[in-house]
Amino acid sequence: MQNERVSEVTPIIIDKDQPGFIQSDYVGGVIKRSMNYIRAGFPLHLTGAAGTGKTTIAMYLAAQIGRPVILLHGDDEFGTSDLIGGQYGYRRKKMVDNFIHSVLKSEENVSPEWVDNRITVACKYGFTLIYDEFTRSRPEANNVLLAILEERILDLPAARGEGGYLRVSPDFCAIFTSNPEEYAGIHKAQDALKDRMISIKLGHYDRESEVSIVQAKSGISRDEAEKVVNIVRAFRETKKNNLQPSIRSGIMIAKVLSATDSRPRADNTDFVETCMDVLNFDTNGFQNQPEEEVKQRIMDTINRYC
Ligand SMILES: Nc1ncnc2c1ncn2[C@@H]1O[C@H](COP(=O)(O)OP(=O)(O)OP(=O)(O)O)[C@@H](O)[C@H]1O
Ligand SMILES: [Mg+2]
Repeated sequence: MQNERVSEVTPIIIDKDQPGFIQSDYVGGVIKRSMNYIRAGFPLHLTGAAGTGKTTIAMYLAAQIGRPVILLHGDDEFGTSDLIGGQYGYRRKKMVDNFIHSVLKSEENVSPEWVDNRITVACKYGFTLIYDEFTRSRPEANNVLLAILEERILDLPAARGEGGYLRVSPDFCAIFTSNPEEYAGIHKAQDALKDRMISIKLGHYDRESEVSIVQAKSGISRDEAEKVVNIVRAFRETKKNNLQPSIRSGIMIAKVLSATDSRPRADNTDFVETCMDVLNFDTNGFQNQPEEEVKQRIMDTINRYC
């Protein structure tokens, strides 16, 4: 009889029904294309700037696939063993012999034990792998994915036993997300890895989707959500790509409005200050402009829409 291999990894089960998930025409289109590629057996790669919905859409897709989900977040510190497993554990065998109660004889034996990590568990049991921000891991660490995605074989060190190789379950599927290469802390993905996936490039949401999401996330009225989104979008257009405020800025402003039972009006000082704080932080791209000028631009935008 073969022992079940030790693993600390437990998959998550995501409910198919996700009431908070907004399916606008745009989102519905992305979901349809993604499901087509997954059904055809290809790994899916959602790539785009911060806040373009990559992780949310990946989780929704995984829920629709209906298999348990293994979630992995890319990390610069990862080595291969963080993905597939390694000699982490120790098996301790202890034999205590106190047949004669005044004499205690004990013998202890400690041997290294292979512990499966996330990718191995997903491949073995046919779970859905979401590898979020996979390009934050160094390309060498991700090399193990090449044979998994193409030959559907996981090449494991002989130390694991079972002949080293593991045949990937036919139910296994993989969804990857990544930010553009110009982002801080992002490695360039190997061409060979990208070549094995179908990549969908996501941009910032269209206005209709953005309003629906901001409204759903905050609970403010549609009319108010439109005002907030108009301000954020107008501001976004004036900035360079990876410095643009994302949908998160709109969600933040709207949630503060909701929490303080406040209204988006130009004469509402609290609202104006929230917009200044959310939109005017320096990673948002105005480092070289005087603070007062940026604030004036935000004020002009608020006056235009409120
Ligand atoms: N279809 C959607 N329905 C409801 N909320 C959404 C949807 N898409 C995105 N959101 C919300 O928008 C925000 C940003 O989405 P998400 O975290 O998925 O972006 P991301 O592309 O993964 O960003 P990052 O690159 O920074 O990780 C989140 O608060 C998320 O809940
Ligand atoms: Mg994300």
